[in-house]
Amino acid sequence: MSAVRIAVLCSGGGTNLQAILDAARAGNLPHGQVVLVVADSREAYALERAKNFNVETAVFDKRDYPRAEREAAILAALKGHEIGLVVLAGFMTVLSPAFVKEYEGRIVNIHPALLPSFGGVGMYGLHVHEAVLARGVKVTGATVHYVTEECDGGPIIAQKAVEVREGDTPEVLQQRVMREAEWIIYPQAIENVCKKLKGERI
Ligand code: GRF
Repeated sequence: MSAVRIAVLCSGGGTNLQAILDAARAGNLPHGQVVLVVADSREAYALERAKNFNVETAVFDKRDYPRAEREAAILAALKGHEIGLVVLAGFMTVLSPAFVKEYEGRIVNIHPALLPSFGGVGMYGLHVHEAVLARGVKVTGATVHYVTEECDGGPIIAQKAVEVREGDTPEVLQQRVMREAEWIIYPQAIENVCKKLKGERI
């Protein structure tokens, strides 16, 4: 049976993309295949990572494409590549309700905290870890979820907890959350979603 055709949408470093590509190479993503990496910035290092794995790339830079045109171009690229699952991995463009509807149940995201805590509008990147430290919670983590119209509000697919330690800075905590949670659960969750999309039990 053919694998689910996956597009990964990135804006920056792409360490989650790397984890997904590594998982695929190691044979841990048998039900999916990353066939396209989309970036909304031509400087996104994720593009280099994709090229190193011979994965096709498409760039719709925020400076060249106003929001609506960018989204239309991304949608056209996804259709053109017959994408079955859209994976957001540090993608800094908020998708419109129309886009989300188009791929309902077939868009996933990873958030660097245990949702529903520390999510929602404005909660991205280091802001999340700053908020976690400011509140003084002792446990944080990462959440993989389906994308719906509500920012960070879609059904949860997977979560993993990570300890907050005395003296953590937002940067230190961000690295620990990535290493101990994000890079582990995202490839696994994607494989499970692909399996489900193929109609197999997980
Ligand atoms: C990750 O922390 C992820 O949880 C969030 O954006 C960051 C992306 O990092 N959505 P990277 O580009 O995968 O390195």
